[in-house]
Amino acid sequence: MSDDLYNNEVAFELQPKVIDESRQGEALAAGHAETARANGKKFYIESYGCQMNFADSEVVASILNGAGFDATTDFTEADLILLNTCAIRENAEQRIRGRLQHFKGIKRRKGILVGVLGCMAERLKEKFLEQEKIVDIVAGPDAYRSLPDLIEEAGSGQKAVNVLLSREETYAEISPVRLNSNGISAYISIMRGCDNMCSFCVVPFTRGRERSRDWQSIVNEAKDLYEQGYREVTLLGQNVDSYRYSDDPKLVGKKLLEAKYEEGVINFAQLLEKVALVAPDLRVRFSTSHPKDMTDDVLHMMAKYHNICKYVHLPVQSGNSRVLEMMNRTYDREWYKQRIDAIKTIVPEAAISTDIIAGFCSETEEEHRDTISMMEYVKYTMAYMFVYSERPGTVAAKKYTDDVPEEVKKRRLQEIVDIHRIHSLESNKQDVGKVFEVLIEGISARNDMELYGRNTQNKVIVFPKGDLKTGTYANVLVTHCTSGTLIGTVVS
Ligand code: SAH
Ligand code: SF4
Ligand code: F3S
Repeated sequence: MSDDLYNNEVAFELQPKVIDESRQGEALAAGHAETARANGKKFYIESYGCQMNFADSEVVASILNGAGFDATTDFTEADLILLNTCAIRENAEQRIRGRLQHFKGIKRRKGILVGVLGCMAERLKEKFLEQEKIVDIVAGPDAYRSLPDLIEEAGSGQKAVNVLLSREETYAEISPVRLNSNGISAYISIMRGCDNMCSFCVVPFTRGRERSRDWQSIVNEAKDLYEQGYREVTLLGQNVDSYRYSDDPKLVGKKLLEAKYEEGVINFAQLLEKVALVAPDLRVRFSTSHPKDMTDDVLHMMAKYHNICKYVHLPVQSGNSRVLEMMNRTYDREWYKQRIDAIKTIVPEAAISTDIIAGFCSETEEEHRDTISMMEYVKYTMAYMFVYSERPGTVAAKKYTDDVPEEVKKRRLQEIVDIHRIHSLESNKQDVGKVFEVLIEGISARNDMELYGRNTQNKVIVFPKGDLKTGTYANVLVTHCTSGTLIGTVVS
């Protein structure tokens, strides 16, 4: 989309490739997926939205492999086209509708099946079939185990839908088939759903209740990845700080929430430690931290282990307490600042990034300036910045009027983007002259004589290739920078 500020690429230009929607619409193909009992059929999958959706596509690939399907990156040779969709903002949904049009021709010619998965599928349910005639299969985020049955049903000419949400499903024992992987960094889902009910957000409706995955299966997945040569894992959840798991089968639901750590409950800080101990040269990242729940324990754990990356993504959404209350974020400006102070004290070298929404219902100019002043306070190294987009069914849609005019929203977003650009450039300039340990991830897209990787702060560093290999660590001296990238040379 060539759109204006609605197009989140505005944000991603600053540091592309790192997370979230920067990867929107990527076609993913498994390297050498082992197919259990090949049926000669191929599936093609495109993923939209957050890292969790990308991780889910790898679960889907595993389930489909088990049913005999092979992955392809060329949709013209596919028997089944899947879009793993996002519903977070209206333009995310528009993009998917546009993309579906693209497959009309091939569907007419070859009679292939088209399935929609993920959050937009969950939000629209059967309505998807009425609105987009091209769609044969609709499967919500907790329904992927039933995909082989849904495909069979659709193959016999019926439309197939499963949008049941679950309180238990974590796909814990399913070993994801890594798609389009660089073989170095991988996502591990540690929980699903969200119970927070931020008033603007559709996720609690599309992903259902929060549930944590068995810690042992998480550690095992990290170990497997390490043995395969991976050197970085990112633990994923909408609110990783509320991770809670007990091996005691009696401790479920409310009992688990009320249980004490002495009763064998594992919290996020403890999980982090278990994953950090898998191997000293396996980097551990995590996302997303919630300001209301992020504990000092987590920060101390980051400080304790060299391989837990010194980077916190702590979405602020707004810098104004009245707006935060309307958003139902359950923290205020002071609380957020106090969490920032805790990060700066306990993990001084940590980089901090954020998400910001401009123009939420009834936001005044002064309240918008509070967001800007919060940015000045924190000096985020990276930010995802959006204009508010009303989502049907959310508390904000029901209770508040989306009354900030579009041009005001866009202007406020532009101000936020401009300030952020200054901050990220400032922050990068401060890194010039420093040496960072970089995990080498691949060959630079712009110059095949250069490699790129990230430092512990999640900043991308580009440097001459020499005889270095991807998947290894190098010490890189930063010699210059742009607002999005550090540029350097290897020193040892
Ligand atoms: N669980 C994460 C957020 C996941 S959604 C958290 O609580 O921080 C990613 C981001 O999308 C949010 O942080 C928010 O900034 C943005 N977002 C969510 N709903 C939105 C909406 N209705 N309009 C605009 N931006 C939205
Ligand atoms: Fe949405 Fe809030 Fe949950 Fe994040 S914490 S996914 S913004 S409801
Ligand atoms: Fe989008 Fe669903 Fe993620 S709405 S941002 S794909 S949880």
